[in-house]
Amino acid sequence: MSVKKAIIPAAGLGTRFLPATKAMPKEMLPIVDKPTIEYIVEEAIDSGIEDIIIVTGKGKRAIEDHFDHSFELEESLIRKEKFELLERTRKSANLDIHYIRQKSPKGLGHAIWSARKFIGNEPFAVLLGDDIVQNEKPCLKQLMDEYEEINSSIIAVQQVAESETHRYGIIDPAVSSGSRYEVSRFVEKPPKGTAPSNLAIIGRYILTPEVFRFLDDQEIGAGGEIQLTDAIEKLNKTQKVYAYEFEGKRYDVGEKLDFIKTTIDMALTREDLRKPLLDYLEGVMTNKSSLK
Ligand code: UTP
Repeated sequence: MSVKKAIIPAAGLGTRFLPATKAMPKEMLPIVDKPTIEYIVEEAIDSGIEDIIIVTGKGKRAIEDHFDHSFELEESLIRKEKFELLERTRKSANLDIHYIRQKSPKGLGHAIWSARKFIGNEPFAVLLGDDIVQNEKPCLKQLMDEYEEINSSIIAVQQVAESETHRYGIIDPAVSSGSRYEVSRFVEKPPKGTAPSNLAIIGRYILTPEVFRFLDDQEIGAGGEIQLTDAIEKLNKTQKVYAYEFEGKRYDVGEKLDFIKTTIDMALTREDLRKPLLDYLEGVMTNKSSLK
């Protein structure tokens, strides 16, 4: 069965980005002129996903408003003959997106579990609402192509610095074939110095619906949260869960420095911004000693 549905969890508190995220969801932080979550929705659609459910929570109404029509705004753009902007504003409103509320932010595993009725008995994708991956072939499409071959759960991993492994879910790789690994263990946020490898789970997954059986346990894991990685570890004991070292550059937009890097890199891909931004950056480098 092919993968047609995707869950985008976006109900976290975004504490690493406070106070900006006190009243605004971090998934709505703009990268140049588009909210982060729109890049993620586009990746899902470009990969062939047909139905998207966004898991939202308290204070996340801006996400629903963004993917809806704003008739006042559209009329005003028509009156001012700003047709290109009109087109871009309508693009996000025309998508068919579903929503479910996670009653309290108990962790990523709980957010995914909240969407179980929408998924039913099908394999599904998960794209984290604050992770952007840049690559010509979308990261999720890479996973979907692998899934077509193996018909088993598969999750995206990338190498991270050893000093960073305690911030991620980490795999203990067993057999590898090219970029695909069989995994003997999945560990969420291993304490410093105990990580079984430096292959970290990032925000793209394809999972079989059997994972919900383990999420039903609502077991509390690292950081006092219900962790998706813990359910994946249990799933791997009954049916194989593969890891895939994807191609592309990944940004954690929920983290300040990565957010700034994403903004710069995305702006550099834009024809209207590239030259003036490069000039500006050159100026910053030349004068950096006076910028303290
Ligand atoms: P993060 O751990 O990066 O999000 O979760 P967070 O908890 O909002 O971040 P900090 O650490 O407090 O800054 C990854 C994704 O999972 C969602 C988040 O919205 C984010 O897109 N998430 C996390 C949920 O939907 N519900 C949760 O309970 C936790």
